[in-house]
Amino acid sequence: MGVAGKAALAYHVLPMLVFVGLVAAGEYVRPPAGRSLDVSLSNNYTPTSPQQVHISLAGDDKMRISWITHIPTPSTVKYGTSQGMYNASSTGTSSSYRYIVYRSGQIHDVVIGPLEPSTTYYYKCGYDSSPEYRDLGQTVWTRSTLQHIGKSGYDVLLNPGDLAYADYYQPFWDSFGHLVEPLASQRPWMVTQGNHEVERIPVIHNERFTAYNARWHMPFEESGSKSNLFYSFDVSGVHVIMLGSYTNFELNSDQYKWLESDLRKVDRTRTPWLFVLVHAPWYNSNVAHQGEKESTRMKDTMETLLYNAHVDIVFAGHVHAYERFVIRDYNHFSPFSGRHACTKTKLINVVRSISRLEMASFGHGQLRVVNGSHAQWTWHRNDDVQPDSVWFTSLASDSGCVV
Ligand SMILES: *[C@@H]1O[C@H](CO)[C@@H](O)[C@H](O)[C@H]1NC(C)=O
Ligand SMILES: *[C@@H]1O[C@H](CO)[C@@H](O)[C@H](O)[C@H]1NC(C)=O
Ligand SMILES: [Fe+2]
Repeated sequence: MGVAGKAALAYHVLPMLVFVGLVAAGEYVRPPAGRSLDVSLSNNYTPTSPQQVHISLAGDDKMRISWITHIPTPSTVKYGTSQGMYNASSTGTSSSYRYIVYRSGQIHDVVIGPLEPSTTYYYKCGYDSSPEYRDLGQTVWTRSTLQHIGKSGYDVLLNPGDLAYADYYQPFWDSFGHLVEPLASQRPWMVTQGNHEVERIPVIHNERFTAYNARWHMPFEESGSKSNLFYSFDVSGVHVIMLGSYTNFELNSDQYKWLESDLRKVDRTRTPWLFVLVHAPWYNSNVAHQGEKESTRMKDTMETLLYNAHVDIVFAGHVHAYERFVIRDYNHFSPFSGRHACTKTKLINVVRSISRLEMASFGHGQLRVVNGSHAQWTWHRNDDVQPDSVWFTSLASDSGCVV
């Protein structure tokens, strides 16, 4: 028996629960980083056992299944709608990568489908037995956050970057894969890249995002993008755009042109909600990470596009603290043209004035899309319940700009 998983799909069916982010740590009273978990890979797997299984959405009615084996094996997934009855099968591809002296296992990539909406599918990948689940990980905070997320029956997890914090040490990518497998093999995990995923060392390893791109293949081809670093997808009345903070975002860039065309294609009668994820936040009143070009320059370049498209919510990562802004009010009172005249200090003050809440805590957020017009966001700290909660109404029919 291979790894057996259960994937539930919720296409075009509301309500939906979306999780955003894995870890936020405090800036002002940063909680201790947390004990690192044991990441040594004492291996109980056979060389052909599937490991680090995770799934992601791949087009309107398909799922991508990814896993790793120590040696090359066929990339085949068997699946079906009843447990133990895998009457359909798909075959994909596999590859591996080198990073200095590290050589990855064989990374398998198989797309299954078409799948029926609102149906639970059971699948297994590979042939071999892999009975052992090993709870490895990065820090005790990560594990705590994952345990909280696991309890809540979500449909899709969205992560705005900084996944494994491998920071050049490739075995941490593997331990992260093991850590998230119990959740990521059950529900789609949709991610974008953070600065910790770049992993470029001039001269020694010039390529950027080697491990990230090899291990976390997102549906960029399906969304007409040329790069795994920016893409979009639809799920349950929501169009989600994943932007890349660490790839070119200037006016003449592939990313900017792709974003323009992707926004043009959005049909708010079909997807009344429009969310954007980006790693480096465009608004941030923390002292940390002020003035980084991935924040300021990217905002100056792309914000008007998002604003005019009536994007409902932008989620960001990077700063290890929770903060929520109300941007539309801000834009209402202070048109873009005026903002460029602000000094940096003034700007931080303005940003503070639109900040509704900030707190130093580890946790995750849940966005419950109730229907086409209402969604509720709640922030969940690992230590206690729901310190922040807010209702959104879709901007789909908003008449827009006020300038
Ligand atoms: C697989 O089995 C289910 C019943 O368990 C059936 O409804 C479905 O049509 C079968 N699919 C194929 C491809 O045979
Ligand atoms: C959507 O959900 C909100 C909140 O539960 C409710 O007040 C509203 O009537 C719902 N709208 C529709 C069209 O069902
Ligand atoms: Fe970051």
